[in-house]
Amino acid sequence: MTALATIQRLAPGFAPDIAVVLGSGWGGLTAQIQNPLRIPYAELAGFPQATVAGHSGELWLGHMGRHRVAVMSGRKHGYETGAVDGMKVPLQTFHALGCSVLVQTNAAGSVRAGIPPQSLMLITDHLNLPQRSPLVGEAGSERFVGMVDAYDPGLRQQALLIAAQHGQPLHQGVYAWFFGPQFETPAEIRMAQLLGADAVGMSTVPETILARHLGLRVLALSLITNMGAGLSQEQLSHAHTLEQAQAASDRASSLLAHVVAGLQLENTP
Ligand code: HPA
Repeated sequence: MTALATIQRLAPGFAPDIAVVLGSGWGGLTAQIQNPLRIPYAELAGFPQATVAGHSGELWLGHMGRHRVAVMSGRKHGYETGAVDGMKVPLQTFHALGCSVLVQTNAAGSVRAGIPPQSLMLITDHLNLPQRSPLVGEAGSERFVGMVDAYDPGLRQQALLIAAQHGQPLHQGVYAWFFGPQFETPAEIRMAQLLGADAVGMSTVPETILARHLGLRVLALSLITNMGAGLSQEQLSHAHTLEQAQAASDRASSLLAHVVAGLQLENTP
């Protein structure tokens, strides 16, 4: 049975308007979902069987504000298998259910002194440094999807406004995708700075490409857990990332809940 059929059987008629992907540190959002139905990825064909500590592997269906949401707690990363289309089935499924917006979150390293650890950053654009695409093998001219305004300007504007209304500082910047799973070298971090990146991470970009191909509008937020390699004395490790993510997670999840609940999906360009 397809994931779509399973969801339709377990939640008849449920049509999410927003899909959310929770990265490290953002998991607290699930506490804000009203009347949640939780479906383990193991029951959803083609959903990622999560392998990364800190990612639990469940789909949550429910309500936030006036929206119906499908929240993925756990995502597939390119570095897990080498394939970069591991989020294709989930996003296709949400699209088929009627969803029109993807809100992504991640943990990232900062390469700008003005964006310190524990800050939150709205992604304005990205650098696909590995130059890998989840659309390889797609047929048809839609595969040549435009990536100008890949991070929807109207949604970004709303997110900034909502953050300001809640007194939550929100930086803005360019996210550079490094394939991982190893952390960057200091030379790579200097390269990212030169190329105009503000933050670096190992996720998000493939999903943004998939979402744009499907016609979903994308909003993406990073929780900064550390300075990029060589920019501070801290030793980078996954445990350190999770520890820092944990420290900022209440603030991050609360902002995210306000943003998701508050987005106006109509009347925005
Ligand atoms: N590099 C890549 N990915 C990350 C980092 C980093 O410094 N911090 C959190 N995710």
